[in-house]
Amino acid sequence: MPVITAKPCTLILFGALGDLALRKLFPALYQLDRAGLLHADTRIVCLARDQGEPSTHLAFIDDWMHRYIPVMDLDGEVLERFRQRLSYISMEFAKPEDYAALVAEVGDADTLIAYFATPAFVYGPICANLAACGLAEKTRVVLEKPIGHDLESSRKINDAVAAHFPESQIYRIDHYLGKETVQNLIALRFANSLFETQWNQHHISHVEITVAEVVGIEGRWGYFDQAGQLRDMIQNHLLQLLCLIAMDPPSDLSADSIRDEKVKVLKALAPITPEHMSREVVRGQYVAGSSAGKPVPGYLEEDNANQQSDTETYVAVRAEIRNWRWSGVPFYLRTGKRMPQKLSQIVIHFKESSHYIFAPEQRPLVSNRLIIRLQPDEGISLQVMTKDQGLDKGMQLRSGPLQLNFSETYKAARIPDAYERLLLEVTQGNQYLFVRKDEVEHAWLWCDQLIAGWKQLGDPPKPYAAGSWGPMAAMALITRDGRSWYGDL
Ligand code: BG6
Repeated sequence: MPVITAKPCTLILFGALGDLALRKLFPALYQLDRAGLLHADTRIVCLARDQGEPSTHLAFIDDWMHRYIPVMDLDGEVLERFRQRLSYISMEFAKPEDYAALVAEVGDADTLIAYFATPAFVYGPICANLAACGLAEKTRVVLEKPIGHDLESSRKINDAVAAHFPESQIYRIDHYLGKETVQNLIALRFANSLFETQWNQHHISHVEITVAEVVGIEGRWGYFDQAGQLRDMIQNHLLQLLCLIAMDPPSDLSADSIRDEKVKVLKALAPITPEHMSREVVRGQYVAGSSAGKPVPGYLEEDNANQQSDTETYVAVRAEIRNWRWSGVPFYLRTGKRMPQKLSQIVIHFKESSHYIFAPEQRPLVSNRLIIRLQPDEGISLQVMTKDQGLDKGMQLRSGPLQLNFSETYKAARIPDAYERLLLEVTQGNQYLFVRKDEVEHAWLWCDQLIAGWKQLGDPPKPYAAGSWGPMAAMALITRDGRSWYGDL
């Protein structure tokens, strides 16, 4: 992949005063500017419904940037340059007549990037209006998740966008694909023949993917209760990680070669029928407990909670991929809110060698594991067996890590936020870190059957105490196979 250089473009940001824009997008754009990766001519047009003086809204954005950009990264000169790039237009996104002001502002730009930091139901109307005012041809549209809440609704949204934009101009964000370690997965797998020869059912016994968060719902009850952890996290982030681990080597690094391979994985995911749901899927909901040593309320006691809600805040699934490479290798996925720590990691467990020559009592010592940590402390560690040092130790084995800790190794280099990478790739017109329509649809297809199964069974989610690793049933899901979740205390 060539080293990235800046290209000029104008970014039009729908929903510029919303949470995502304020917390993630402006800080990310600022960091790109600071790194010299925004072209001198790049402009950012902020769009929101709020009326009033543009300068007031721009000052508000500036204020939030000071909250979300680390103090040591705030540079007066860069801030001033960044401010000069911004302008603000108040508009109703669904009203065609409101687009005249936008055309007047950006009509002369060669390349436009329209970022939709809005609810998905307005994607269609915005696209229609961009097309009607003649801007569609030169525009790349960036869509945030969630795209719909099931296959049918996602198709409707995707079709409404596709009515005006070809797939080559559509960038569907899954911010996990912008995380450095996730991209490193591609390098690790395909730049090291050592791993690729071992990457199959002959050598790997099982795979774990954990995405745990300490936070609860944080004032997002309205959105989250409609979605739940399956739609919010598994349908996108965890299935994307699974795809990157399980896919066959693409023929090249082009967006479509990578995405073709990911789609094959999604298509090969074994369905889980309602009869098998109780053994292979666990849904949980947190009850009051403690977090960082402080008592915290349960999900149903959060602000504005519907006390009858049976929305899950935790999911564990034992997934299987039906193909030659992975037949018989379970992929255990789990993700939850209000877990003991923020942790996103993938653990690849390699099989033991078939003939064991060491003392039998040492056999339970686990052999090779590859641990890929996305957060915190991004890094990769390979657990290998070595001999204990010392004359008195004989052939006493121990398991220790061969470690590559990115935050330590690249101390001087800041690890960029996922949105920085993704925004940069859009400005370059690279789609390989974005999700294609058929990926979204196949992911929904698999999740929809789980949701339908839950509905059919009618079981409520299993309670777990805030600050724990989830319901007991999630332990049983893996111990039943004679295994345990890596690192759980
Ligand atoms: C978002 C989900 O996509 O990812 C949130 O909607 C979740 O519920 C977040 O908190 C987690 O992202 P990260 O990068 O903090 O792991």
